[in-house]
Amino acid sequence: MRMKDKVCVVTGGARGIGRGIAETFAREGAARVWALDVNDADFPSLEAAHPAIKGAVVNVTDAAAVAALVERIKAEHGRIDVLVNNAGITRDALIQKMGDAEWDAVIDVNLKGVFIMTRAVAPIMMEGGSGSIVSISSIVGLDGNIGQTNYAATKGAVVAMTKGWAKEFARKGAKVRANCVSPGYTRTPMIATVPEKVLEPFIARTPLGRLAEIQDIANAVLFLSSEDSAFITGQVIRVDGGLVL
Ligand SMILES: NC(=O)c1ccc[n+]([C@@H]2O[C@H](COP(=O)([O-])OP(=O)(O)OC[C@H]3O[C@@H](n4cnc5c(N)ncnc54)[C@H](O)[C@@H]3O)[C@@H](O)[C@H]2O)c1
Repeated sequence: MRMKDKVCVVTGGARGIGRGIAETFAREGAARVWALDVNDADFPSLEAAHPAIKGAVVNVTDAAAVAALVERIKAEHGRIDVLVNNAGITRDALIQKMGDAEWDAVIDVNLKGVFIMTRAVAPIMMEGGSGSIVSISSIVGLDGNIGQTNYAATKGAVVAMTKGWAKEFARKGAKVRANCVSPGYTRTPMIATVPEKVLEPFIARTPLGRLAEIQDIANAVLFLSSEDSAFITGQVIRVDGGLVL
């Protein structure tokens, strides 16, 4: 029970990797997992399966809505132990075809959303003297990818912000840690439209010979969120089957 009694917030928690993380936290004994998402269609099944999970409709780009919800969580529980910045989108195009709208949408959710969430939650953790923030980057943020100028920019920036936060949040003796998980291609609805012929070369180059499953990513997030990683901060764990070695 590595999350026993913890109060956790997972953005993009309704489906895909975020849902896997929320469910893993609940199975590991979390007192409450707040699953924040713009889409509430999956909340009923999630809440029914895991009474510790509570869905809340929030867009991470809406600073006022985020602040109000974080205040509500603080009022209810008195603390937030774990924040997982997971919500993310793609709007892929080669750079010569990428419009301002695609650039802005991805920057807003994947970069500004992470900033807005962390700005709202980190002070509560620092006040309480402990906490763990795990942000989902991507191997694309470390290695780049064709057609993902906008996405790569945000996922690289999330790593850079995390390293700064690791230094900033530990000042004055607070045990507030910040780390990243960088998944390789993971079987979720996000990559449902990626043709198998694009995925196959990645699988062929991956020493462990497959794509990631949601639980592979959730396991790394669980480690960085729990006391098992109490002396780890400012780090990036790649979960990519050894794709880049
Ligand atoms: N699937 C992959 O191959 C892969 C690889 C590397 C990194 N990632 C990252 O993992 C994270 C989760 O990806 P996924 O594959 O589970 O995606 P997904 O599309 O299956 O799920 C993302 C969830 O985030 C929610 N969301 C989107 N915009 C939001 C917003 N503005 N506010 C709140 N919620 C919002 C969506 O409604 C959805 O429920 C993302 O940050 C993604 O970039 C995914």
